[in-house]
Amino acid sequence: MGDLEEKIILVTGGSRGIGAEIVRQSIKEGAKVILHYGKSHDAAISIQDEVGKDKCQIISADLMKNKEILSLWEKSWEWRGRIDVLVNNAGIYEPVDVADNFTDWTDAWSKTLQINLLATAHLSRLAILAYRECGGGTIINITSRAAFRGDTHFHMHYAASKGGQTALTSTISRGYGGDGITCYSIAPGWVDTEMAREGAEKVGWDYVLKDLPLGEMVPPREVANVAVFMASGKARHLTGSSVSINGGSFPR
Ligand SMILES: NC(=O)c1ccc[n+]([C@@H]2O[C@H](COP(=O)([O-])OP(=O)(O)OC[C@H]3O[C@@H](n4cnc5c(N)ncnc54)[C@H](O)[C@@H]3O)[C@@H](O)[C@H]2O)c1
Repeated sequence: MGDLEEKIILVTGGSRGIGAEIVRQSIKEGAKVILHYGKSHDAAISIQDEVGKDKCQIISADLMKNKEILSLWEKSWEWRGRIDVLVNNAGIYEPVDVADNFTDWTDAWSKTLQINLLATAHLSRLAILAYRECGGGTIINITSRAAFRGDTHFHMHYAASKGGQTALTSTISRGYGGDGITCYSIAPGWVDTEMAREGAEKVGWDYVLKDLPLGEMVPPREVANVAVFMASGKARHLTGSSVSINGGSFPR
């Protein structure tokens, strides 16, 4: 028996990076998973083939569109008639500078807050409404060390979005624990994914490696292991907490 036997888990942004690893590890532990993806249909199909179609449903939704967020939740719930764990993992890390023109600045802020924070809030709302009816459930938010440490000055909006997700986590845990709802954050530093490698190319690998006491980015599998532990319910009293996983680059 795996730690997640019988659990139904929705993972946003599950077709690559950290999300794909959470899908794989959750299924290894016995869960059935809804793999949400944006545009990468081929990548989603390939993971579904890898882990087994009976254990993994793929559903696409653009998290920029609130209607698609609603239908993502509805279709996900319909698949097995319930969802036990929502993992808000999808996110973007796109730079903008204070010196950029005002339209680029506001577009970057709106897009980042919509995908990283508002989609998390809207899906969490739907989860809370459903969980209250069926005795509880779990929400796991993939945030960032940027929520606590800040980020480069090109990523103020990103850090703000991750700070928002962190505040959402503690607020949900305080407000809905009595309904059997638990909510956790995982705050990674550099994790070895396409998003991080693109970021590293921009800021320079020397800068990144200097920042990594263990000499490497966090393997996505380790973030997934923390998510599986939280989803298992083995430490429910962690609810409201943020677990840092950054290889010692920002101990807290
Ligand atoms: N990689 C890192 O170093 C790192 C560090 C800290 C936090 N994080 C966080 O971890 C999470 C996953 O990051 P990752 O490194 O795996 O990134 P990634 O770019 O590999 O994956 C992000 C996922 O989000 C999805 N997504 C983005 N915009 C979307 C939209 N409009 N609609 C639907 N889906 C959309 C993408 O399709 C992708 O599957 C993010 O929330 C990120 O902020 C990553």
